[in-house]
Amino acid sequence: MNVLVTGGAGYIGSHTCVELIEAGHQPIAVDNLVNASAESLRRVAQITGKEVPFIDGDVCDEALMEKVFSENEIDCVIHFAGLKAVGESVEKPLAYYSNNLTSTMNLCRVMGRHGVKKIIFSSSATVYDRDNTMPLREDSKIGNCTNPYGWTKFMCEEILRDVAKADKEWSVVLLRYFNPVGAHPSGLIGEHPNGIPNNLMPFISQTAIGKREKLSVFGNDYPTPDGTGVRDYIHVVDLAKGHVAAMDYLCSHTGEAVFNLGTGNGYSVLDMVKAFEKANGVKVPYVIAPRRSGDVAVCYADPAKSAEVLGWHAQYNLEDMCRDTWHWQSMNPNGYDK
Ligand code: NAD
Ligand code: WQD
Repeated sequence: MNVLVTGGAGYIGSHTCVELIEAGHQPIAVDNLVNASAESLRRVAQITGKEVPFIDGDVCDEALMEKVFSENEIDCVIHFAGLKAVGESVEKPLAYYSNNLTSTMNLCRVMGRHGVKKIIFSSSATVYDRDNTMPLREDSKIGNCTNPYGWTKFMCEEILRDVAKADKEWSVVLLRYFNPVGAHPSGLIGEHPNGIPNNLMPFISQTAIGKREKLSVFGNDYPTPDGTGVRDYIHVVDLAKGHVAAMDYLCSHTGEAVFNLGTGNGYSVLDMVKAFEKANGVKVPYVIAPRRSGDVAVCYADPAKSAEVLGWHAQYNLEDMCRDTWHWQSMNPNGYDK
C-alpha cells in the first residue's frame, strides 16, 4: 500500500516509516520541518535500504495537498503532522488550534475529493477526562482537557468521527498514544527535542550525557507508591508497529474505531530514573521540585482492545526503552544537528 505519512520526518513518523517499509508498504512523507529534520528520513533509508519520497510542505496548504494527491497514487493516510508541546499551546493557543485543526480538515477535504477515505489519526491519552479511574479504556470519559493542545486532539477526534458518520465509505482509526519513549535499536533515529525538553525521558537522557545539570522531579507528594507521577511509557518501535496493525484493520473495516496504544504498566518518575541508571550504567542527578501545573498523579492504559481487535501488544520492556534511548542519545549527542 502507498501510505501518505504527514509529519513523517518527526519522532513517531520516522519510526513508523521504518515499520511500514519492513511490512512491505511504501510511505510517502510530507512535513514542513517545523519540528523535525529531513535527516531523519535519510536515516530511515539507511536502516531499510529504501528511500522515502519526501515533500517539504505544510499540510495546511490545501493547494499543495491537492497536488500531492494528484501526483501520487495514495491508498491511505497516517496523519502525524501537528504541534505537540503542551506548555507552548497554553502560550500560543491560536497557533495550535489553527495548525492542528486546519491541517486535519484540509487533509480530509482533499482526501475525499480523491476518493481516499482511509485515515489513521495520532490522538493522545490527553483526551481522557482527568477524573477517570485507571486503567483508561477506549470507552472511558473524554474531554475536560487541561490545555489547548489536548483540546485540538479532542476536536480532531470529533471532526473525524463526524466525517465517518456522514459518509459510510470512510474508515477512521483514532490511536490514543500514552507516553512514547525510546528510539530505533539501530541508534540512527530517535527523538530530537527543540531546546529544553518538556518530556521526562529526553530530559533524563540529556542529563545523563551532561547537557543538563540535573532533572527536576515535578512533585513527590502524589498519591502513588513513591509520591512521584506514574505514566504508561511505550517504546516508539512498538507504537510504530501499532500503526501497521491499525492499517490492516483500516483496510478491512469502515466507520470509526479508537484504540489505546500503551503497555498497561505504570512507572513512576523515580522508577524511570533508576531504570535508566541501571540499564546504562550512568548517573542521573535529580532534585525534587514543585508539582507541574496540569499534571495528573497516575495515567495508564488498558490495552486489551488493541490486543483483541488489532492483534497488537507492546513487546519492548522498560529496560529496552532506557537502553535504546541512551543508544540514540550517545550516538547523536546533538540529535540530527551536526
Ligand atoms: P513531532 O513533532 O516529532 O512530529 C510531528 C511532525 O509534524 C513534525 O515533524 C513537524 O515538523 C510536523 N508538522 C507539524 N505541523 C505540520 C504541518 N502543518 N504540515 C506539515 N508538517 C507539520 O512529534 P511526534 O512526537 O512524532 O508526534 C506525532 C503526532 O503524535 C503528533 O500529532 C502528536 O501530537 C501526537 N502525539 C505525540 C505524543 C508524544 O508524546 N510524542 C503523544 C500523543 C500524541
Ligand atoms: C511524565 C512524568 C511529569 C519532566 C505529555 C503530554 C501528553 C502526551 C505525552 C502528547 C510526569 C514528570 C517530566 C521533567 C518530571 N503528549 N516529569 N520532570 O505529562 O505524561 O504527557 O507527553 O500527546 O499530552 O502532556 O509526559 O514526559 O512530560 O511527564 O518530573 O522534567 O514525568 O511530572 O509525572 P506527560 P512527560
